[in-house]
Amino acid sequence: MTACRICQGSVHQFFDFGSQPLSDGFLRPEETAGEFFYRLAVGVCRSCTMVQLMEEVPRERMFRADYPYHSSMSVKMREHFTRTAHRLLDTECPDGDPLVVEIGCNDGAMLSTVAARGVRHLGVDPSRDVAEVAAGKGVRVRVDFFEESLAREVAAAEGPAQVIYAANTMCHIPYLDSVFRGVDALLAPGGVFVFEDPYLGDVVERTSFDQIYDEHFYLFSATSVRAAARRYGFDLVEVERLPVHGGEVRYTLARAGARTPSGQVEALIREEAQRRIAGISTLEQFATQVKRNIEELAALLRRLREEGARVAAYGATAKSATVTNYGGFGPDLIPAVYDSTPAKQGLLTPGAHIPVRPLKEFSQPYPEYVVLFAWNHAQEIIEKERAFREQGGKWILYVPELHIL
Ligand code: SAH
Ligand code: TYD
Ligand code: ZN
Repeated sequence: MTACRICQGSVHQFFDFGSQPLSDGFLRPEETAGEFFYRLAVGVCRSCTMVQLMEEVPRERMFRADYPYHSSMSVKMREHFTRTAHRLLDTECPDGDPLVVEIGCNDGAMLSTVAARGVRHLGVDPSRDVAEVAAGKGVRVRVDFFEESLAREVAAAEGPAQVIYAANTMCHIPYLDSVFRGVDALLAPGGVFVFEDPYLGDVVERTSFDQIYDEHFYLFSATSVRAAARRYGFDLVEVERLPVHGGEVRYTLARAGARTPSGQVEALIREEAQRRIAGISTLEQFATQVKRNIEELAALLRRLREEGARVAAYGATAKSATVTNYGGFGPDLIPAVYDSTPAKQGLLTPGAHIPVRPLKEFSQPYPEYVVLFAWNHAQEIIEKERAFREQGGKWILYVPELHIL
């Protein structure tokens, strides 16, 4: 039995994806022999409802100097983070000399706007290459893991932070106890800790099972986040559903008693209870649907291969590692995946070893069928790649269920 990483309660496993590589572990052909694998299985805590992985991958393996994920590859996400920065500054930092700290600032997609507005800030991110890109945009970055010791050091050197923000990073951190104690040490008495991550409610509703991979250690809900926050003296005071990355929630935490929680918090927690999003039977149903989606995608890919159709994929996402490795989809079924990230191009996808090709080759010539691994950016990509469909190309999506566009 595994103990809950938050409350030590017992965790009920509801899906096992088997042996998986690092989701962002793109590699050169000569590196495939020593590839790292772990067991990807996911469960729910019977006490605090936190959905979490059964096994933890050491953080240094995932967030290395050459970690290849760059936040700014999507126009929509860049706009999202610019808007977020303006809003945090306008609502939380109206006067004085505020300090804004971001955990997992990556290439500076959010903090570059804070920097441009001349506000004191610090980004913390252990991945050197992306941090260097942020620094190039005028962002002050510390290349390190945010945890209690680092937070205490920052607080001593720079004083309290009005805002601590994290996007798609809190769910990456198994050791949330240390992060919460760090936030406690660094946050100003009236400050806010704001974070946004994929939402369990959306993952369950849309069968977006590929949100489950090594880096996504937790799948949060308002219920589980409030329970975790309370253990460290914080209250969940606001929740906001976000359309990005297939459905996320932005959680705003304040020190217990400092702010009155909005009605939205209670409403979302009530909705989660009514929908039983962390209920064992709901999650078992989810598991059945995941198997169906994968089997249908596998059958389609095999049929297309038999017909001699030209197939490829688009978006060498971390998410797709779960799909290709669980489904057993290698280059025999998907000969190439096109992606805009220079740090991924020329390498092989983790585990499945599908070559990653630059976007400029996508139309030379266009494939006939393309699996959209970056389905969370569907609108942006399908619009940008209009010409692909106009000349007869078809998109294959497997979330929420298999369909061809
Ligand atoms: N905030 C960006 C990046 C998300 S990717 C966005 O939403 O697009 C997650 C980032 O968190 C990576 O850049 C990774 O290096 C960083 N990260 C992982 N663990 C961390 C930790 N303990 N402290 C700070 N950053 C961390
Ligand atoms: P994303 O879905 O944001 O995240 P994750 O890796 O966590 O699953 O990754 C999107 C990938 O798709 C990223 O490698 C960049 C790539 N991409 C394109 O190639 N073209 C595009 O137009 C967009 C928006 C993304
Ligand atoms: Zn628990």
